[in-house]
Amino acid sequence: MTVHDKPSPSWHSEALSLPARYYIDPANHQSELERFFLGMWIHAGRADQIPVSGDYVLRDVAGESLIVTRADDGAIHAFYNVCRHRGTRLCEAAEGSFDGLIRCPYHAWAYDLSGRLVAAPQMHDVPNFRIEDYPLAAVALGLWDGHIFLNLGECPRPLAEQLGVLADKFRAWGMEQLRLGKRIVYDVASNWKLIIQNYSECLHCPGVHPALQRLSHFLSGQNEPAHPSYLGGRMDLREGIGTLSMDGQLTGACLPGLSVDDHRRVYYYTVLPNLLLSLHPDYMMTHTLWPRALDRTEVVCEWHFHPEAMANPGFRLDDAVSFWDMTNRQDWHVCEQMQLGLKSRAYRPGPYSRREDLLHAFDQLIRSEEQSSTP
Ligand code: FES
Ligand SMILES: [Fe+2]
Repeated sequence: MTVHDKPSPSWHSEALSLPARYYIDPANHQSELERFFLGMWIHAGRADQIPVSGDYVLRDVAGESLIVTRADDGAIHAFYNVCRHRGTRLCEAAEGSFDGLIRCPYHAWAYDLSGRLVAAPQMHDVPNFRIEDYPLAAVALGLWDGHIFLNLGECPRPLAEQLGVLADKFRAWGMEQLRLGKRIVYDVASNWKLIIQNYSECLHCPGVHPALQRLSHFLSGQNEPAHPSYLGGRMDLREGIGTLSMDGQLTGACLPGLSVDDHRRVYYYTVLPNLLLSLHPDYMMTHTLWPRALDRTEVVCEWHFHPEAMANPGFRLDDAVSFWDMTNRQDWHVCEQMQLGLKSRAYRPGPYSRREDLLHAFDQLIRSEEQSSTP
């Protein structure tokens, strides 16, 4: 028996997959968006995407458009993309750079990069109007080792609470120093939870990912007991394999500071609700999930590398990107097929194996959140 065979405390022999309504009921989807995407810290990109003051990206969270930008003092802020005059969207392009001010295209109200209103034409003679009363509506923002998180809740608890032990667990990877090498955006015709469930088990690996199975045995490694805001574990690379890439060879050197043991492992963690964090010996891969409909999820996959490795003439990014692009597409296909199957009148919740322990823990969280929000 491998360590992986041991049932986690959450698994039991009568554990079943979720009823269909969790995947096909629009009202359920809306309540999940509110509970998870408007109520938790969500991953919104990397600080190195907006390196210079004025750089910005837009994020769309459950229909809310948000501006994430860097101010003159280097601090990163997030605002609702809504003018305080009459509500117009301030910004349309998905990314770009402000020239020091965020200007409304309608009547030219202008805000500085920390959200203060600094110009409001023809408002000087309006009684009781005070320019300082109309800053942009701010969104709570937290940083973790180069990752940007946003929270749209009313009184967010600290980001560190949501990250728990993960805040320190991956310090050796030096995630803040890593730089984007490649981004691929996928449009997946499945509910967001199917993508997390797919990521949380490797029972499907021998059949769906023969190339992955050759590099890393699907029963290797160990899951950590699930936590209410993250779940995951590690898998081991096979003998002679340096990393997950088409030929199993490293893209460059291993990341500095990793232990010898971690040269042989890949860590896979879901940071709920929308980050899949995959730490390899030589690179970090992130998937960020953006539900666009009940049965549609935009998945942004990025590969991040150490800048010194990227500067090396022997650096081979394509091999790792091709490997995961192929593997991603294999995963999206089974998620889409599952979404189709779940619509059938024949679908009934089915039994989980011990190797699907994290899925059962995740499902319990989905159910318990629903129960706790039901009056
Ligand atoms: S709505 Fe923005 S300036 Fe009028
Ligand atoms: Fe997979």
